[in-house]
Amino acid sequence: MSQKTHRGTRVVHAGLPQAKQGRPFNEGPTFASTFHLSGHTDNADFQYGRFSNPTWEALESGLSELEGGETVVFPSGMAAAAAIMSSLVVCGEIIVLPADGYFATRAYAEEFLVPNGVKVNLVSTPELLKYDYSDVRLVLIESPSNPLLDVVDIKALAKRVQSSGGLLAVDNTTLTVMGQRPLELGADLSMSADTKALNGHSDIVYGHVSAKDPVLLERVRLWRKLAGNIPGPMESWLVHRGLATLDVRLERMVSNAQQIAEFLHNHPSVKWVRYPGLPTDPSYDVAKTQMDHFGFIVSFDLGSPAQADQFLQSCALIFEATSFGGVHTMAERRARWGTDDVPEGLVRLSVGCERIEDLLAAIDKSLHP
Ligand SMILES: Cc1ncc(COP(=O)(O)O)c(C=O)c1O
Repeated sequence: MSQKTHRGTRVVHAGLPQAKQGRPFNEGPTFASTFHLSGHTDNADFQYGRFSNPTWEALESGLSELEGGETVVFPSGMAAAAAIMSSLVVCGEIIVLPADGYFATRAYAEEFLVPNGVKVNLVSTPELLKYDYSDVRLVLIESPSNPLLDVVDIKALAKRVQSSGGLLAVDNTTLTVMGQRPLELGADLSMSADTKALNGHSDIVYGHVSAKDPVLLERVRLWRKLAGNIPGPMESWLVHRGLATLDVRLERMVSNAQQIAEFLHNHPSVKWVRYPGLPTDPSYDVAKTQMDHFGFIVSFDLGSPAQADQFLQSCALIFEATSFGGVHTMAERRARWGTDDVPEGLVRLSVGCERIEDLLAAIDKSLHP
């Protein structure tokens, strides 16, 4: 579809086959470990289920159009992150990861790359632009970061990292491709845990990596093929179905999140709120220059674990669960995992598609039990 068409229209049609008399709008999932292949191995588009699959390719073509770079899909967000780190960095090279980002990305690097001679340096998101990137091979950031929602100027960071010969990869999970396009901002790679808002229904674990440079993407694709870290056709088809409503879901989620952030900002029981859409937030100025929306996550401090637990247990409309980005509003006291450097009373709230009046009433009631 023409690049002139609104992105919110393109996402509805992204990756669909050409309209054909008597065929469905999208083909169903192809369940195949092997494909008919006579003679030379190049004689067919598909040869073996670990190499490629038509259902992956339909979703990849839709995501490639939206991301502005070729895309490879993965069975989880962590598989996408591991693919980037494992395929593009070798022994003796340096990776910079966010000290304040999703903990499993750091844990993967520390468990599986450091013992193989890769050096991992942790830098917090607000410090990224001050860091010296000489000799750094790969910088994998999150902006906004999960869970504290700090934002870095991606254009400026890409220039700094690339001018010293490194690669910048951006984990775009908290916004999705509808909220920010790292490749357009100059990053080398964009990745996402599509488990979250991109699929959006809290029923699938999935991920993808996109890159402008086909040589980089081929390395990532080769890692998928040789490590066998491949998604199932059914999951791929369902993520593709979810993608069509991404813009509509986000419209409601982001508008709800803005109103909830403003409400919490003025609430006496709340010590502080982080939301990039609050003009008082440290992320606001940069966020509005590079993000199309401010996201659906609101993080706030209720002062103590007891206050946070009390809030979560008394708010019937909010599911207490880890993860974010689904149509159902969910929240958790993030420090309960012991993996993030966050205040004990911090609640990460992922705002869903319910009506705002009901959400505000439920939150207000739970803050005054
Ligand atoms: C920012 C971010 N990146 C990556 C991941 C990993 O995604 P998955 O759980 O699909 O492996 C998560 C999961 O919470 C995340 O929050």
